[in-house]
Amino acid sequence: MSKITAAITAVGAYVPEYVLTNKMLEAVVNTSDEWITSRTGIKERRILKEEGKGTSFLAIKAAQNLIDKKGLDPKDIDLVIVATATQDMKAATTAAYTATSIGAVNAFSYDLGAACSSFLFGLSTAASYIESGRYKKIVLIGADKNSSMIDPLDRATCIIFGDGAGAVLIEPNSEGLGLQDEYLRSDGIGREYLRAEYGGSSNPITKEAIEQRKQYIYQDGKTVFKNAVFNMADVASKILERNQLTKDDITWLVPHQANKRIIDATANRIELDPNKVMLNIEKYGNTTSATLPLLLSDYESQLKKGDRLIFAAFGGGFTWGSIYLKWAY
Ligand code: UT7
Repeated sequence: MSKITAAITAVGAYVPEYVLTNKMLEAVVNTSDEWITSRTGIKERRILKEEGKGTSFLAIKAAQNLIDKKGLDPKDIDLVIVATATQDMKAATTAAYTATSIGAVNAFSYDLGAACSSFLFGLSTAASYIESGRYKKIVLIGADKNSSMIDPLDRATCIIFGDGAGAVLIEPNSEGLGLQDEYLRSDGIGREYLRAEYGGSSNPITKEAIEQRKQYIYQDGKTVFKNAVFNMADVASKILERNQLTKDDITWLVPHQANKRIIDATANRIELDPNKVMLNIEKYGNTTSATLPLLLSDYESQLKKGDRLIFAAFGGGFTWGSIYLKWAY
C-alpha cells in the first residue's frame, strides 16, 4: 500500500471591499506613500468596517468560496481549523461558529494561534491528522481582522496590517503529492517585541490602559525585522538542504507577506529568481494568518500538479517555520 500524504485540493479566499490606501493614511498619521512603498512594498490594504462583524465573517466567506469552487458538500467536512490571532471573542471558539455557519454539521472545530505562523502550523496539524488516516477532509482557514487590534494613530503598525482570509481543503493523496517536509520553530524571547500588552489574561483591560492605548498592538519594528530576515531565510534554506533541493527545483516560494524587504532577503538567501516568488503584499499588506492562503488563491491559476512550493513564515511570539509541499492539482 502506498504512503498517504496530505495534499491541498482546493483554495478559497475573501478580502473586505473597503480599500485603505497609503494616500488615505497620509491624512491620518505622519507618513507618506513614498515611505510606505519603499520601506514595505505595501500600497493598500483591506479593512472590515461593518460593525459587529469579526474574524469569523472573513473566515466564513473564504470557506464558502472554497466550498462553491470545489462543489464540496459541507456535511463531508471532518474538521475545521481557524488559524487566527484575532478571535471574535474571548472564551468562544471562532472556529465553532465558522463551522456551523458553513454547514459543516458533522465536523469538530477549533482555533489555532501562532501569530503570523498560524496557517503554517495549522497546515502541519491538519497534515498529521490526514497522514494518520484519522480524518479525510479538513478545512484550514487563515483569517484575521487585524484592524481590531491596530491603533489607527500609530504609524509604526497602521501602515502594515490589513484584514482578510484564505481557506484550503486538505485531503489524503496516494501519489506522493502534498506536504513533504516541515521545519517549525518558536522562541518566547520574542514576545516583548510584538504584542498587545493589555486585554489578555496577564493584564486584563483597564480604563488607564485604554487611555494609554495599550490594548493595541505594539511592535518594535527593527527587532522584529532583523529576526524575521534571519529566521525565514534560515528555515527556508534548511528545508532545501534537508530535501536535497536546489533553487532550480523550486517552482514557487510562498513567503509570509509582512515586508517586501523581508521577502527579498529570504529569496536572495536561497538565490531564487524573483519570478518564482509569490507576492501580493502591495494590495493587502500583512494579513497575519491569511497571507499564505491568499497567495495560493491569487496564484492558483498558475499552479500545476507536481509544482514544488516552499512556504516560509515568521510572526509574533516569536514563531516561524518552513514547509515543503508538492501541489496536487
Ligand atoms: O508579520 C510579522 C511581524 N511583522 C514584521 O515582520 C514587520 C517587521 N518590521 C518592519 O517591517 C519594519 O521594521 C517597519 C516597516 C515596521 C519599519 O521600517 P524600518 O525600516 O525598520 O523603519 P525604522 O523603524 O527604522 O524607522 C526609520 C525612520 C525613523 O525615522 P528617523 O528616526 O530615522 O528619523 C522612523 O521614525 O522612519 C520613521 N518612520 C516612519 N516614517 C514615515 C517609522 N515609521 C514611519 C512611517 N512613515 N509609517
